[in-house]
Amino acid sequence: MSELIRYLHALPGTQPEPLHPPYVSSLKRAPSKPSVPLPQTISEVTGPIFASGVAKPGSFDLTRQHPGEALGERIVVGGRVSDENNRPVRHTLIEIWQANAAGRYLHAVDQHNAPLDPNFTGCGQVFTDEQGHYEFVTIRPGEYPWRNHYNAWRPAHIHFSLFGPAFATRLVTQMYFPGDPLLLHDPIFNCVADEKARERLISVFDWERTIPEQALGYRFDVVLRGREATPMEE
Ligand SMILES: [Fe+2]
Repeated sequence: MSELIRYLHALPGTQPEPLHPPYVSSLKRAPSKPSVPLPQTISEVTGPIFASGVAKPGSFDLTRQHPGEALGERIVVGGRVSDENNRPVRHTLIEIWQANAAGRYLHAVDQHNAPLDPNFTGCGQVFTDEQGHYEFVTIRPGEYPWRNHYNAWRPAHIHFSLFGPAFATRLVTQMYFPGDPLLLHDPIFNCVADEKARERLISVFDWERTIPEQALGYRFDVVLRGREATPMEE
C-alpha cells in the first residue's frame, strides 16, 4: 500500500476556539473536556470524492435559478483553492449558501422581518477547475439581526463548504466583505484569536473580476489544511 498523506495541524490561535463566551451558543455547545486528536487513517485521507455531475449546469449562478432575476447588487465571487503546499485543489466541490439582499434566508427557522425574494434561493454549487479556480455569480447578501446580544447584527457573509480530497480537508466557513464595520462587533468572526488568520476570511475587492456595468468582483482564496489554512467557522 502506498504511504498515506499526513496533513499538518493548524498553529495555535488560527482556528476558532470552541468556547468563546461572547458567542453565547458556544457556552452550551463547547466540549467540557479536552479534545482527543484522531489519528489520520485511510478513512480520513482518501475521500469522499464527488463527481462533477453533482452540480447542475448553471448552479454557479445564483441570480438565474428562477424565471425572474434575483433582486440586489450582483457580484462575482471567485478565487483559488489550494492545499498546505500551495498546490491547486482540482475538481473539488464547493457549495455556498447565503441570505438574500434583504438579509433573509429562505428557511423555515428564519422569521426575520425582511422580504423573501421569489427569484432567489441562495444556494449554489461549483467544482474547481484544473488550476483550482472557481467562480460564483450571486447577490451581495444583506446583514441580518440575531439575538446573541443587544442590537447584534451579523456582517454580510456567504457560507462556504469545501470538501477537498479527503475528510481531513473538509472546510465549512464564512466569507466576509472588506471594510465591513460589523466585523469588529461580530463574535463569530472574532472566535479566531489570530488576526492574520481572521483576515483570511475577508474577501478582497477584485477589479479584474469586476464586470463593467454588471457586477463587482471579489476574490476569496481558500487554503485547505496546514499552517496557512483558512479558518473554519465556529
Ligand atoms: Fe449566515
